[in-house]
Amino acid sequence: MNRRYRKTIIAGNWKMNKTASETKKFAEELKTLLPKAKWCDVVVCVPAVNIPAAIKAFKDMRVSVGAENVFYEKSGAYTGEVSADMLKDLGVKYVIIGHSERRQYFGETDVTVNKKVHAALEAGLHPIICVGESLEQRELGITMELIALQVKSALAGVPAEKLRRCVIAYEPIWAIGTGKTATAEQAAEVCTFIRTTVRHLYGARIARSITIQYGGSMKPSNAAELLAQPDIDGGLIGGAALKPTEFVDIINAANQE
Ligand code: 13P
Repeated sequence: MNRRYRKTIIAGNWKMNKTASETKKFAEELKTLLPKAKWCDVVVCVPAVNIPAAIKAFKDMRVSVGAENVFYEKSGAYTGEVSADMLKDLGVKYVIIGHSERRQYFGETDVTVNKKVHAALEAGLHPIICVGESLEQRELGITMELIALQVKSALAGVPAEKLRRCVIAYEPIWAIGTGKTATAEQAAEVCTFIRTTVRHLYGARIARSITIQYGGSMKPSNAAELLAQPDIDGGLIGGAALKPTEFVDIINAANQE
């Protein structure tokens, strides 16, 4: 973390978990556990149908609500899809774009990720752009090339003044939901490389101000060590974000003065 230059953001990604009533219950429990002063921003990204319940439940808690996906067209005949304007109108602030599960199961590519980033920014949302390599790619030694490609294509055509609203999440696919976390050194190495990539594209001032998260089996027991790395400015948390106590433990790890 480096709070002098950029925000620390702890975000939960609920994936396809919890009903609207469970959302309300989670928020009530979280409210009793959250620290009074927070030095980090807290975000909860929920399934699209739970957004109205989440907006209502997290109101007055200084917890922002995020979506887990968005479609890139503004409106039209796209059965089942949700536009960026629809999310914004509900009060959504963040939207996860290009999560590896969406790339794996729903055919998302670097091209659609880029279109979604543009649509989200246009609507005034803050995209959380996910990048990360598979185990095979890491073993082949092509992690950095792949990350550079993902970052550059996601940000293609994004002007500098809009980049300030973007968050990049490094999520090695082999660490997601596996209980296998990247070591702090592995995570830091890639997050630093992402910042260098942004610096080459946008210059030092902007690179210094962008929030870069780590995601992949982040939990109370490893959060502090990961967040102590200067280029890791928060977490995108799956499993551990489903339990208020564990989520708060991670928030507290980011909340050290
Ligand atoms: P886990 O924390 O369950 O590994 O999930 C990480 C993730 O995919 C967050 O987007």
